[in-house]
Amino acid sequence: MRKPAFILCLIMFFAVAVWAQPGTKKKRPLAHDYGKVVINNYSKNIGLAPVAFDHWVHRAKFTCRLCHVDIGFAMKAGATDIKAIDNVKGYYCGTCHNGKTVYDGRKVFESCSRKFIGDDKGVCERCHSEGRHVKKEADFYAFSEKLPKERFGNGIDWEKAEAEGLLKLVDFIEGVSIKRQSLKIQKDFALNPKVNEMPDIIFSHKKHTVWNGCEVCHPEIFVGVKKGTTRYSMVEIFDGKYCGVCHGKVSFPLIDCQRCHTKQPQ
Ligand code: HEC
Ligand code: HEC
Ligand code: HEC
Ligand code: HEC
Ligand code: HEC
Ligand code: HEC
Repeated sequence: MRKPAFILCLIMFFAVAVWAQPGTKKKRPLAHDYGKVVINNYSKNIGLAPVAFDHWVHRAKFTCRLCHVDIGFAMKAGATDIKAIDNVKGYYCGTCHNGKTVYDGRKVFESCSRKFIGDDKGVCERCHSEGRHVKKEADFYAFSEKLPKERFGNGIDWEKAEAEGLLKLVDFIEGVSIKRQSLKIQKDFALNPKVNEMPDIIFSHKKHTVWNGCEVCHPEIFVGVKKGTTRYSMVEIFDGKYCGVCHGKVSFPLIDCQRCHTKQPQ
């Protein structure tokens, strides 16, 4: 009786902490909007709609590592400082969105171009779409229907979908990625939250490496030389640091306490 009650208190405490954070959205995003990033350093000023980038469309095809290490997107909305000219030259979005790269038998549509003829706006609005009623080609519900379910975030168990071979993630682009020797994958380990009634967290290096390689996490998020070197608390995770860099924005959200705090103490 006492244990569940205690854990419930903790959950309430953190739930309030999340909602009380300044700047966080009051409403939980819909499944298809979870992981959407709005990029708007320049668009508004020049009469284009801000860019809406959906993670679900992209993470279904590519690893996080490919974009966040090889292509070099920052893991913070707006921080990459993408300019139209970068895309035209084949960097950032233009690495793939160049009208030439073939994915699944189709040429990937082109990104920014300087020949901006009034009637051509439809092309631009495929990305410069935030706040406009743009019909997307990618259909979230048709896509997610076939995948294992989860309760939160996109409502998809991405980890399981990949493990079952339902997703084939591209991790290498010729001319952009560098071939490197794969490092030995570390064993899974348990993290003890140091609060008696709170279950341990099982962290799987193996499952994380599929998506992130090593370089997304080491050394920037976790130094990773020896377990226990990086000290952090749940409050910092809620603040978007450590595990919270990904969990809560793109990977399953933090309200899913049990998905991390899985191991019952003996
Ligand atoms: C096709 C490329 C691509 C893939 C694949 C991708 N991302 Fe991103 N990610 C981006 C871009 C672009 C941004 C926005 C960068 C900017 O605005 O400067 C971003 C932003 C983010 C952010 C910051 C979000 C915010 O609201 O501040 C996080 C966290 C993130 N990505 C995590 C991930 C994780 C985890 C994966 C794999 C499951 C992943 N990304 C896969 C391109 C990608
Ligand atoms: C690693 C390759 C890659 C990168 C980098 C990339 N994309 Fe994509 N993107 C794709 C592919 C492949 C598709 C699916 C295209 C198709 O089916 O025609 C896609 C689809 C999309 C769609 C869906 C359009 C629709 O109608 O459903 C949007 C919007 C989009 N990308 C925006 C962006 C933006 C904005 C960036 C940069 C911030 C970006 N992408 C970076 C590969 C990439
Ligand atoms: C594949 C996605 C994509 C498509 C398609 C696209 N853009 Fe962009 N564009 C971006 C991103 C991402 C940014 C950065 C947005 C920001 O920070 O406001 C951007 C920014 C811009 C900027 C402002 C930055 C600068 O350097 O001045 C201009 C102008 C621009 N785009 C023009 C266009 C035009 C014109 C079209 C249609 C012919 C177009 N874009 C289509 C992704 C795209
Ligand atoms: C999702 C993030 C993430 C990824 C991806 C990741 N690690 Fe780690 N790694 C961690 C965390 C968290 C720790 C524990 C850090 C701490 O406690 O200070 C850790 C610890 C380590 C340690 C110390 C282990 C020990 O027992 O002392 C090594 C070595 C390591 N990682 C290597 C790797 C290698 C090699 C890869 C790629 C094959 C990799 N990591 C991928 C998050 C990650
Ligand atoms: C993405 C994984 C993840 C999720 C989801 C998660 N936690 Fe944690 N939690 C951690 C990690 C990692 C630690 C730190 C362990 C350590 O000290 O090394 C932690 C620590 C804690 C602690 C110990 C005290 C402290 O502040 O550090 C409590 C209590 C806690 N979490 C409660 C919760 C509750 C309640 C939820 C759901 C609302 C939750 N956690 C969701 C990973 C997670
Ligand atoms: C660089 C981004 C990133 C960081 C940092 C990160 N994760 Fe994850 N994690 C992922 C991705 C991607 C998945 C795949 C599932 C998803 O996206 O929802 C995942 C899946 C998981 C899973 C489910 C798979 C499993 O092992 O059963 C757990 C649990 C988890 N993470 C815990 C943690 C904990 C605890 C930390 C911090 C010590 C952490 N993660 C840090 C990206 C990250």
